[in-house]
Amino acid sequence: MELKSVEFTNLNYSFVKKRITIKCDGSTKIISSASGTGKSTFVKSLVGIFPLDKENIFINGRAADDESLKLFLENIGYIGQQPKFFKGTIKENILLGVTETNLDKIFFFSCLDEEFAEGKLKLDSDVGFGGSAISGGQKKRLAIARALATAPKILFVDDFAEGLDVKTQGEMLKRFREDKSFSKVLVV
Ligand SMILES: Nc1ncnc2c1ncn2[C@@H]1O[C@H](COP(=O)(O)OP(=O)(O)O)[C@@H](O)[C@H]1O
Ligand SMILES: [Mg+2]
Repeated sequence: MELKSVEFTNLNYSFVKKRITIKCDGSTKIISSASGTGKSTFVKSLVGIFPLDKENIFINGRAADDESLKLFLENIGYIGQQPKFFKGTIKENILLGVTETNLDKIFFFSCLDEEFAEGKLKLDSDVGFGGSAISGGQKKRLAIARALATAPKILFVDDFAEGLDVKTQGEMLKRFREDKSFSKVLVV
């Protein structure tokens, strides 16, 4: 079965009332609301960090069951507010065991292509203790690259703007919008 859409039908957040439908049509959705209004809580409740409530989820237009929920979870990528880095190289931290991925594609969408091309970042360099050897902006983009390494059909980015300068935000958004190969849900 292929993931085509997911609908959450019983939400209650100040910025989203009742339902939200996310289609795997390559679209880019932006969800925006003031800080402290529950955005991070909201995203966590979509991606399964908080328990998913089967009764209020429809996958491909049908009430969710264990099988379709598994399909959904296998096909999404999520970047939380504080991405974690583990002892090891940049490559290991991006792949986390994934053996086949299109690095050019994930570096393009995470706007890391130039830094790798120029040698400012190297796949085999160490990230340092807890990521201490990489900058905040690089962490955010590496976390996006990591989420893309599993080729998700839907990418959820909490706090999209955090850690990214305005130029990079604009460029990434442009690259996201021009692409239709995966859907993006960005929270700002
Ligand atoms: N439905 C909701 N609407 C608003 N706030 C909520 C809701 N559910 C939980 N919260 C609480 O609001 C607080 C801020 O939530 P958070 O998700 O971190 O906000 P944001 O990411 O928008 O800054 C948390 O303590 C969270 O538990
Ligand atoms: Mg938040």
